[in-house]
Amino acid sequence: MQLIQTAHELAEVVAEQKRAGRKIGFVPTMGALHQGHAALVERAKLESDFVVVSIFVNPLQFGAGEDFDKYPRTLDVDARLLSDIGADVLFAPSAAEIYPADGQIKRLSAGELGEVFEGKTRPGHFDGMLTVVNRLFDLVNPDLVFFGAKDAQQVALVRRMLNEQISVGERAPIRLVECETVRDLAGLALSSRNRYLSEHQVGVARTLIAALREAAKFEDRAKALDAGKAALSPEARLDYLELVDADSFEVLESSKGKKARLIIAAYVGDTRLIDNLVIDRTS
Ligand code: PAF
Repeated sequence: MQLIQTAHELAEVVAEQKRAGRKIGFVPTMGALHQGHAALVERAKLESDFVVVSIFVNPLQFGAGEDFDKYPRTLDVDARLLSDIGADVLFAPSAAEIYPADGQIKRLSAGELGEVFEGKTRPGHFDGMLTVVNRLFDLVNPDLVFFGAKDAQQVALVRRMLNEQISVGERAPIRLVECETVRDLAGLALSSRNRYLSEHQVGVARTLIAALREAAKFEDRAKALDAGKAALSPEARLDYLELVDADSFEVLESSKGKKARLIIAAYVGDTRLIDNLVIDRTS
């Protein structure tokens, strides 16, 4: 595996692969890698010929008072994991490489979908996320990109951005592959932020999936949310639990006949965790 830190070197390596007719798969990450990321890389290896993984803790997607400073930075361990699982390139740029002082970086806005749920609690988060993802797509020039379903609102926004850019010819086609959330044996969605949790808090965090699973037993929104809230540990501070359309994130009164999604965000101690479950009642 090659460790690349500059956009210039990355462009050369990718161009050479493309000239050889290879499909480039790209997995963007902020590091602190876990088995969820490993699953994205494995999938990328299956569906493409050359796999680039980026590690960049993007300051633009953290709000004031969030965990940008303490976000785990574990580049050496991450690099070893990526090399072991067979990624071809680890792109680990500096902030100056992503946001050059003299550069014309296009700032993106996530619009209304960026202002609800995650976006309501974390104003500006999705604008910053889309801005860096767009920049990384420009630098990596991938054919396929791989995102985890745990960050469902992120996936929806990136998909919409790509569809818009591709439809107006602003970007060559990129296929977005949404990969299933990887969970521990008790169902806790793997997340880099889980490493902030004490052993006791892991138990509390596991009640997020319990809440989603209980809620999923009911079609009616009010019943679903009541059941979900009852299953969540009282030690978790709920931000939101909602029943929404799986793709548009519009609130639904019932999941009957719909492809719906239950979404949850809660604080366990100071750690903010999210999860979601798709409920397909279309057949
Ligand atoms: O999901 C993440 O880790 C980040 O939001 C991403 C996509 C790498 C952009 O910084």
